[in-house]
Amino acid sequence: MVSDTLTTRQSAGANGHEPASPDAAGALSQTARDHVWIHQLAWDEFTGERLRIFDRGEGSTLWDIQGRSYIDGISGLWVVNAGHGRAEIAEAYAKQATRLAYASASSYTTGPAIELAAKLASITPGDLNRFFFSSGGSEAVETAIKIAKQVQAMRGFPRRYKIIARRGSYHGMTHGAMSLTAIRNEAYFGPFMYGVSHVPGPNRYRNDFGLEGEAGDLMAARYVEQEIENQGPETVAAVIGEPVSSAAGVHVPSPKYWQTLRQICDKHGVFLIADEVINGFGRTGTMFATEQFGFVPDLMTMAKGLSSGYAPIAATAVRESLFADFQEKKEVALGHLLTFGGHAAAAAAAVKNIEILEDENLSAAAAERGAYLMSRLEELRAHPTVGDVRGIGLLCGIELVRNKETKQKFGKEAGFIKRVGELLVDHGIVTRAWDTMHFAPPLVVTTAELDRMVAIADESLTTAEREFAIEIDG
Ligand SMILES: Cc1ncc(COP(=O)(O)O)c(C=O)c1O
Repeated sequence: MVSDTLTTRQSAGANGHEPASPDAAGALSQTARDHVWIHQLAWDEFTGERLRIFDRGEGSTLWDIQGRSYIDGISGLWVVNAGHGRAEIAEAYAKQATRLAYASASSYTTGPAIELAAKLASITPGDLNRFFFSSGGSEAVETAIKIAKQVQAMRGFPRRYKIIARRGSYHGMTHGAMSLTAIRNEAYFGPFMYGVSHVPGPNRYRNDFGLEGEAGDLMAARYVEQEIENQGPETVAAVIGEPVSSAAGVHVPSPKYWQTLRQICDKHGVFLIADEVINGFGRTGTMFATEQFGFVPDLMTMAKGLSSGYAPIAATAVRESLFADFQEKKEVALGHLLTFGGHAAAAAAAVKNIEILEDENLSAAAAERGAYLMSRLEELRAHPTVGDVRGIGLLCGIELVRNKETKQKFGKEAGFIKRVGELLVDHGIVTRAWDTMHFAPPLVVTTAELDRMVAIADESLTTAEREFAIEIDG
């Protein structure tokens, strides 16, 4: 049974933007605790004072129902590239939803889905000209894996089912995508999809091979080839990676890393999947990160910034050479169907979002504002706990360490990183602080907002370092 706090929400400022009364806010929090499953909160975090209920957003700013403002330091979850409060995108969605919100993607399509596919073909690299639509990044990854496997089988290689991913990577939480995700909970969800292995990825800060710079990146590429050879090339369907890793800690490799992986995959008949779910749509300073690394993947996944979060939509881009197998074997369809794929109103929102990204030149803005942000983040190296500062465009992070010389990480039990996270939100930034603290605001962020983000991070680190002084040896 739902309590009467839905009416409370209306008086909580949804229309007039006035903050909710303490009673109304308290009631809404209670209803959230009673009924909402917030995906990643453990129950003790649900029940504490820190539960934030957001009410509205504008540009890079969020307000909660109590009227407190926050800089959205991670664009929701690397999603809201065009910024909050874009009435044009909402209007495009509403107009299409009024006309026709949905038609099944199983056997039909719609005008907005066609327009979006054509637009994507014009902005994605090379001959990535075919688009399978879905609702979120995990579905886009599932789709990519299935296309890779089916095409391998259609080409006469049914034993090519293995997928090679990289350590530390995140590719989603549905079962197949989670199997590729390195941080996966074996105890709860194993066994995972058979045939997935993880190899080291580029990491210039904590390099597994004792090699500096590009040489380390290229050794990471060698590990991919070695894994293909160890597994037996005749068993490997695809290699997957984010051009710039995000969850693994924002590692920016040399373009040669990706170009080498391209050559290795071609040599062994293995497909290369670029996961641009976070990287895409201007985040790294170009529309897609692959552009900066000078390679064309066989499959590319995209979601998040595709609609800047105004509608749940994702896509898997496919090269012509792969789709050609379906054109040749005319009677064979892909063994895949997702009810909400190509949702007409969501596609209309995505088309408008891309138009805004292009009209306002937000990829270039990300490059420019990202360079400024990096220069300011460099100042944080003065902290005893900031081991490294990394990034490209507005995909930046600082790595927090217990000891700068040994690069020893903070264990969860130390509580330092959790405390930093609490301080950040208390001081008005919404972001993620793990081993890496992420800085990825909407691409419309202002210089003043970037300065404020850095000032809050600085202050939060100082406070946490003081509170934990005894434990910091670096
Ligand atoms: C690189 C990458 N791929 C895939 C996903 C999964 O996307 P979703 O959460 O929309 O399913 C994510 C989510 O953060 C991601 O970062």
